[in-house]
Amino acid sequence: MTINKATHGHWSSRFAFILAATGSAVGLGNIWKFPYITGENGGGAFVLVYLLCVVLIGIPIMIAETMLGRRAQSNPIEAMQQLTDEAQADKNWRYLGWLGVIAGVLILSYYSVIAGWASAYIFKDLFGSFFGIDATQSQTLFDNFTASPIQLIFWHSVFMAATMWIVAKGVNNGLEKSVRFLMPSLFVLLFLLVGYAMTTNSYQQGLDFMFNLDFSKLTGNAILTAMGHAFFTLSLGMGAIMVYGSYLPKDVSIAKTAYLIAAADTIVALLAGIAIFPLVFEHGLHPASGAGLIFQTLPIAFGNMTGGWLMGMLFFVLLVFAALSSSISLIEPAVAWLVENKNFTREKACLWTGLGTWFLGLGTVFSFNIWKDVVFFDKNIFQLLDYLTANVMLPIGGFAIAVFAGYIMKREHTESELQMPCTQSYDVWRILVRYVAPASIFLVFLHVVGVLG
Ligand code: PHE
Repeated sequence: MTINKATHGHWSSRFAFILAATGSAVGLGNIWKFPYITGENGGGAFVLVYLLCVVLIGIPIMIAETMLGRRAQSNPIEAMQQLTDEAQADKNWRYLGWLGVIAGVLILSYYSVIAGWASAYIFKDLFGSFFGIDATQSQTLFDNFTASPIQLIFWHSVFMAATMWIVAKGVNNGLEKSVRFLMPSLFVLLFLLVGYAMTTNSYQQGLDFMFNLDFSKLTGNAILTAMGHAFFTLSLGMGAIMVYGSYLPKDVSIAKTAYLIAAADTIVALLAGIAIFPLVFEHGLHPASGAGLIFQTLPIAFGNMTGGWLMGMLFFVLLVFAALSSSISLIEPAVAWLVENKNFTREKACLWTGLGTWFLGLGTVFSFNIWKDVVFFDKNIFQLLDYLTANVMLPIGGFAIAVFAGYIMKREHTESELQMPCTQSYDVWRILVRYVAPASIFLVFLHVVGVLG
């Protein structure tokens, strides 16, 4: 097989990698998904399990995944092939790369539809749709919008085209640089929204919902969703971080960057939750309303606060940018593989992957209207895709990455690649990646299939 290594670039610095990886991690997962799944799964106890998963499973696997990419210096499919050869391991490990590429395409197919909602909401705010809005009107606005396949397809197409254009032009760099401004601005806006939530009478109730532990609400599926979300929100288990790691210069400390990225990502999610739940209770909305949660609650805040018009616009613009810096990493493994292994030009690779993903996205578009009632196992197409990717494919990918890094790769290779500041921290990582992470993932799966009740 001919491999086109010349196309494989490098970040200019550690900072560029941190920006790109944080851009990948922080996205709709933090601001749109985290609040609504927390609402659906009963709050506090779910949040605790998610935080535990980030620390015990997410961070060690993020270190492992970045390391695999950097060692192989190529796209996930090719990387797994090379590392397998290096470790003289079973050839089947290469399917791990494939699993990731497929998961990325499937996730992007629905991610783009939701990012399309956020794009549409920029204009709804601009044209004053939120002005003085109450809870019922906000819900109607959302319901009417999602009932229209044409509108959803339009915005899904716009977002998909923007993503593929950025990936094709290789202007990722420009986008990553803008993360430098976008991320702090997003923080500021979230803080302001938290400030607004504090002025409502339901602030405490919102906090209680997020942080009071009620384990009676913690079903097996809630635990799986919390774990799946730790992978999703940190962009783990599908090669996004691997492919970004492959562009990382050799002299950069992987562990330190992983802590930073995970911390930033978690703070954004918690802030989003703290801003949203008080509003949910204040306006008599239901925490478990599902995927529309932030689109039903935030317009009420923007429509009724001073300066809300401008803030609403800024918020949705920032959300779309945060989504773009994630979506480009969802498709990068597929594109890099086509370019490096199949000799596609970047443009052609983007065109085909973009069209394919766009087409798949129609399934999600229709899940909110004409195919609302098409359900398998109680889930519409969107829910099924989300479940299959976040709760099944990413954890399996993460499990395999942990096992590969912990058992298959030679210790001297991982040790020299990671260059941890001391052997103790290397040992802690190794224990987490060999025992704690795989065992936890395995137990959660067992629990869900009912073996453990
Ligand atoms: N982490 C992104 C988010 O939270 C989504 C994502 C998942 C991106 C997997 C890349 C890979 O929005």
